[in-house]
Amino acid sequence: MSLFREGHFFFEKTMKLFIATDHGALEAKNHLVKFLNELGHEVEDLGTHSTESCHYPEYASKLAREVVQQEGRGVLLCGSGIGVSVVANKYAGITAALCRSIDDARLSREHNNSNVICFGGRVSSHKEMEAMLKIWLETEFEGGRHEIRTNMFAELGTKI
Ligand code: RB5
Repeated sequence: MSLFREGHFFFEKTMKLFIATDHGALEAKNHLVKFLNELGHEVEDLGTHSTESCHYPEYASKLAREVVQQEGRGVLLCGSGIGVSVVANKYAGITAALCRSIDDARLSREHNNSNVICFGGRVSSHKEMEAMLKIWLETEFEGGRHEIRTNMFAELGTKI
């Protein structure tokens, strides 16, 4: 993706983004898709697409597979955010962080190199999720001593 800002062209690393939810956060998921598009990100919406009751492990698993296979990043939602984060973290290659604050979102990138951010659609407001998502996308992993630690868990979990 090329962008023009403040008189300079620069190229941003294209990051493949995925988003998924269960019925518990449908409205928030749809809101975040629009928000991401407005920020200039393409995002693949893996559902759900209706308010009909469904099973969050199916959506979290679907997103985890895409993130690992396509080396992308993902946004997962459910009512609390807990269910999807538990499921996503079962997969090798996924570091899913349930975030409730901007500091959570920032630190989950700086220290943990999270590649999936999880929100509770019944816990956080749309504005709070927007702010967390923006900082999460903009923040780089610090590496160094943190990498020694993330290397310790990088290979854990079920291989896709
Ligand atoms: C669905 O009602 C709810 O249990 C689910 O969205 C999630 O909060 C589970 O952790």
